[in-house]
Amino acid sequence: MQISPSILSADFANLQRELEAISTADWAHVDVMDNHFVPNLTLGLPVVESLLRVTPIPLDCHLMIDDPDRWAPPYAEAGAKSVTFHVEAAADPVRTARDIRAQGARASMAIKPGTDFAPYEELLREVDMVLVMTVEPGFGGQSFMADMMPKVTQVREAVRRHGGDIWIQVDGGVSASTIEQCAQAGADVFVAGSAVYNAEGAAENVARLRALAAAHRHV
Ligand code: DX5
Ligand code: ZN
Repeated sequence: MQISPSILSADFANLQRELEAISTADWAHVDVMDNHFVPNLTLGLPVVESLLRVTPIPLDCHLMIDDPDRWAPPYAEAGAKSVTFHVEAAADPVRTARDIRAQGARASMAIKPGTDFAPYEELLREVDMVLVMTVEPGFGGQSFMADMMPKVTQVREAVRRHGGDIWIQVDGGVSASTIEQCAQAGADVFVAGSAVYNAEGAAENVARLRALAAAHRHV
């Protein structure tokens, strides 16, 4: 059970300090948005390169961008240990996943709430993680979509059939009140932005989320 806080909810003027605040987490989730694939613009490779120089934990880059075939592998080459691209945007997801892995990173495929998993099941042989979005990608602080839990379980069952150590990540609206159902459904990597970077203190929030997830592990 791993926690990957999203720095989308952090203070962008102090990202090094904000990464240090989550140094007890497993990953730092970096949301890259291009204002084309999603209607929002965040940051790109130059900022990720700077974050890589100072981060105490590995970066989990979630690319919400068009043409990941071209733009995703450079994140792996720069040193991101996990690179997620959206299947909806990829022209050649097999090649893209292989290019990411060739740079020594974990390759991951993401599916939006309206995207069925079944047509992409064959991609399991090419990836290390499946990200099941639990909000429409683009913004932090949205409401959790509980109706995505059957899809998480569907992916979990496909991973079991397929074999191997493929992780299942959920992203969007994950909090102390929703993480249990994600874990029960079969997720094992949990992204949380607003539920980590709030008044409670980031490290305490990470610890609480991890304990809740561990207590409700999928069986
Ligand atoms: C949304 C991003 C998420 C976002 C999650 O498109 O992919 O990573 O930061 O934020 P919360 O946890 O606040 O829903
Ligand atoms: Zn994300």
